[in-house]
Amino acid sequence: MLKTVSGFSKLNKFEKIDWLVSTFFNEDEKIKRVLEQYWNSNKVLQDLHDDFIENTISNFYIPFAIAPNFVINGKDYTIPMTIEESSVVAAASLVAKFWSTRGGFKAEVLSTTKIGQVHFMYEGDKKELQKYFNLKKEDLFKATESITKNMRKRGGGILAVELRDKTAALANYYQLHVTFETANSMGANFINSCLEAIANEFKKDDIQIVMSILSNYVPECLVRAEVSCRVEELYAENAELFAQKFIQAVQIANAEPHRAVTHNKGIMNGVDAVVLATGNDFRAIEAGAHAYAARSGKYKSLTNASIENGIFKFWIEIPLALGTVGGLTALHPLSKLSLQLLENPSAKELMEIVAVAGLAQNFAALRALTTTGIQKGHMKMHLTNIIKQLGASEDEKQFLIKYFENKTVTHNAVVEAYNKLVQDK
Ligand code: MEV
Repeated sequence: MLKTVSGFSKLNKFEKIDWLVSTFFNEDEKIKRVLEQYWNSNKVLQDLHDDFIENTISNFYIPFAIAPNFVINGKDYTIPMTIEESSVVAAASLVAKFWSTRGGFKAEVLSTTKIGQVHFMYEGDKKELQKYFNLKKEDLFKATESITKNMRKRGGGILAVELRDKTAALANYYQLHVTFETANSMGANFINSCLEAIANEFKKDDIQIVMSILSNYVPECLVRAEVSCRVEELYAENAELFAQKFIQAVQIANAEPHRAVTHNKGIMNGVDAVVLATGNDFRAIEAGAHAYAARSGKYKSLTNASIENGIFKFWIEIPLALGTVGGLTALHPLSKLSLQLLENPSAKELMEIVAVAGLAQNFAALRALTTTGIQKGHMKMHLTNIIKQLGASEDEKQFLIKYFENKTVTHNAVVEAYNKLVQDK
């Protein structure tokens, strides 16, 4: 049977589902029920979600949670998080509480500029190109005036346009490298519109424009977050040993890319969850953060730790191009709510909050890894998930949690214990 289709986007939602079910699911009506059970009965809300993307057939739920007790620069925050992975929110909440009694998190935005590039090919004389650029530069700014007008009122706009010779990397390749400030918006549409207007103004017969696009590598849109306390305040049992192993764990991530990727993945558990909850683009953030982690030519940790004069310090530096206006931020009711919960932060404040969420996750992961091991917490959540799947009653659940306190949790072991419990009744 043919599994391709033409004119699919013109079908309505029901027709699309009919095609799907007949082509891939042997006309199984149950598939329709699975999709339909996630439709929202509020038509306005469903239409809104349908229109975010093309070919929408249902909604895909991801839990929306909150992590209270974060103190950042002396202010209390409850942080919204959207994530499917168990333990992430619990870890964030625990770490927030832990640091709230040790001075909280300090965060600071180091820079906020973003980059866009017009990539082009030119085979002629370099000096002539430079001359043409110098002559044209003012017109390039003028060509974007109508686009930048509002942004300039909000303190943003185009900061610089440079001609860059990239011919050492690729024959005949040059760029217009453009630096932007986009105030409280992430600015992707603004940047791309400016770049296209610039490219249009710059092009001529011997300049072949290849493409105009923002860069998600934003090492100059950087935020730093930090926690610190006396070593003895760190951990109840053996604070010195804990601090030492913690620092070694960071050093290992800096020395060994295999570990660094997992280490940074844990950071992104916190970062992405807040980025998603606030309607920002987590793929852009991921790409930019990992490129930054590799900026030395070797992939390293995004966090660092030190002990000096008995003070333990742990910090993160991460590029975060975020917005608190525009895009999905006001359009998605839960993103809007998330930003309200954060008391409608500026983009800079949101950068600080997100960096803190990443640092908190990394602290939780390294604390668990260097002490009890990560599986203890994970398996507890795993156990409750399996118990839930089995449809156990509250009494049965409590029994199984107690039963597995000192036993290894595996799916089989839980099913067996549950079956035995039911049989013995
Ligand atoms: C799991 O999602 C994240 C961790 O693997 C991070 C880490 O190892 O640092 C626990």
